[in-house]
Amino acid sequence: MILITGGAGFIGANFVLDWLAATGEPVVNLDALTYAGNLESLASLKDDPRHVFVHGDICDRTLLDRLFAQHKPRAVVHFAAESHVDRSIHGPGAFIKTNIEGTFTLLEATRAHWSALDADAKAAFRFHHVSTDEVYGSLSKTDPPFTEDHTYEPNSPYSASKAASDHLVRAWHHTYGLPVVTTNCSNNYGPYHFPEKLIPLMIVNALAGKPLPVYGDGQQVRDWLYVKDHASAIRAVLAGGRVGEVYNIGGWNEKPNLEIVHTVCALLDEMRPDPAGSYSRLITYVTDRPGHDRRYAIDARKVERELGWKPAETFDTGIRKTLRWYLDNGDWVARVQSGAYREWVATNYSERAADRKSA
Ligand code: NAD
Ligand code: TYD
Repeated sequence: MILITGGAGFIGANFVLDWLAATGEPVVNLDALTYAGNLESLASLKDDPRHVFVHGDICDRTLLDRLFAQHKPRAVVHFAAESHVDRSIHGPGAFIKTNIEGTFTLLEATRAHWSALDADAKAAFRFHHVSTDEVYGSLSKTDPPFTEDHTYEPNSPYSASKAASDHLVRAWHHTYGLPVVTTNCSNNYGPYHFPEKLIPLMIVNALAGKPLPVYGDGQQVRDWLYVKDHASAIRAVLAGGRVGEVYNIGGWNEKPNLEIVHTVCALLDEMRPDPAGSYSRLITYVTDRPGHDRRYAIDARKVERELGWKPAETFDTGIRKTLRWYLDNGDWVARVQSGAYREWVATNYSERAADRKSA
């Protein structure tokens, strides 16, 4: 079996569902169930013995040692993290704790387990670290997309903490020989995405008739990857990636934020028309994020060349599937918008004066 961390979060839950459907190999899923963790995303696995959920923290070394001893996983796939840039600006401490100290604790527990394996099991073992393109910093309009050799230039507390975790993973390979692989991927979107991030926030706000807050001029560019494509990329790298290597995973879908918001509005106009008029009437420009990275873009040729992986979805197909999922899963959306979610919305958006309105 494999040990997953953070498997109740957005990408982790999609990965667990994809993994069990594609391989059938059992999963131990360790998740602290922070505000971002949601077991309802895994409700379809409730009676499935291949999914063992453990409520706990990656900073808890005693728990980790017990899980390794009990389940003897052949691999670790490490998703658990604090993942939201805006939250890292309001409170960086949790990012240092989970993303850096947590990754360190997990690496040490993994190393203790791995060191005691026999030679064949040791060679076959993998520690797969899931990271982000944000560690590479921000591109200008004309820069080529990030390759795996791009310098590390993180700009937010979130990306700095992920960069630190990438360095720890690299060092545990070089110093101790731990068989690691790291993937750095671009912005994901798809089902079970917590509505604090751009795409799900725009969908749930539009459907509720609330403002659609665009930071700054809305011309920041992100490179969108459908989450199920990310899950298949992780399977490919875990199975065939070269030990010690980094693979960039992207969807070849660079788009400015404003275009994303207009696309969401146009598709909702088609799929769930609002008698009050186009959803684009709700677009509102608000104060920009401090230190806002202008552009991310991933060069995903290495993973295609070495492992034959390419995304299956274009943005057009992926965004339609995503909108369909949100329209069909209003209960999931309503339940994640708990008191804690409402507090976050008040914290993040009340300070951002609405600069001007636009349709
Ligand atoms: P998420 O915030 O939706 O989920 C994170 C999960 O980790 C939650 O279930 C949470 O409960 C759990 N968690 C947090 N702290 C923990 C701790 N100390 N111990 C155990 N569990 C803990 O994040 P996501 O969007 O699913 O991202 C998963 C990974 O992918 C992260 O490492 C993130 O940096 C990386 N990533 C995400 C994106 C994206 O677009 N979402 C892009 C690139 C990389
Ligand atoms: P986000 O989903 O938070 O991902 P990241 O910051 O990790 O790329 O934001 C994506 C882009 O959308 C980013 O440029 C910030 C912008 N954004 C808005 O314009 N309005 C919003 O309300 C949010 C949450 C994000």
